[in-house]
Amino acid sequence: MKKLTPGRLVIASHNEGKVREIRALLAPFGMEPVSAKSLDLPEPEETGTTFVANAMLKAQSAADLSGLPALADDSGLVVEALNGEPGVYTANWAETAAADGTITRDWMLAMQKVEDRLQALGPDVSRSAHFTCTLALVWPDGSDLFCEGRVEGTLVWPPRGDKGFGYDPVFVPLGHTETFGEMDPDAKHAISHRADAFAKLVAAAF
Ligand code: IMP
Repeated sequence: MKKLTPGRLVIASHNEGKVREIRALLAPFGMEPVSAKSLDLPEPEETGTTFVANAMLKAQSAADLSGLPALADDSGLVVEALNGEPGVYTANWAETAAADGTITRDWMLAMQKVEDRLQALGPDVSRSAHFTCTLALVWPDGSDLFCEGRVEGTLVWPPRGDKGFGYDPVFVPLGHTETFGEMDPDAKHAISHRADAFAKLVAAAF
């Protein structure tokens, strides 16, 4: 298995929340993370239908264009009562089109959509959900590896807390009372789907 050596590594994401979390997770390993955005790398279209396919596609594109190893994250919220939706389309549920056709992401709208769909199933519906994270690491020579992590939890309404990103304000991890949006980042990093996938990546790549 190919190993990562200290030096520059592209974080193949344009999502500031993910970049912030991956930077913090990489901090102890002597890597010099640079974001795809700071290198002006284009954001490839996520045409895959699985988390693995999309993570690989993003990491591959960044490694090819930068000549550096690249780490990508494809993640999402999987809601049991919604047959796994929004799943691989988690980010799409936040998309709104402005009058000029520009697409922006509105996370409040996305959380409301999930809540509306759950409420439509009646008061006894299961509110169980998990976040899943697939990390893909691709080297410029084509070597690769991927790892998956998850965290189980419950969806609450209304949203609480502004410390995280995306769907954090409605997700209470199992065994806790605060949402990811209310937790300090270090507390989230200790138990999140991203941290779980990262621990596996560290075991394999360092
Ligand atoms: P993608 O991986 O770029 O397709 O986007 C996945 C989406 O899942 C993100 O844009 C977030 O909305 C959501 N998501 C992934 N990880 C987290 C997390 O740690 N907290 C909250 N939302 C997340």
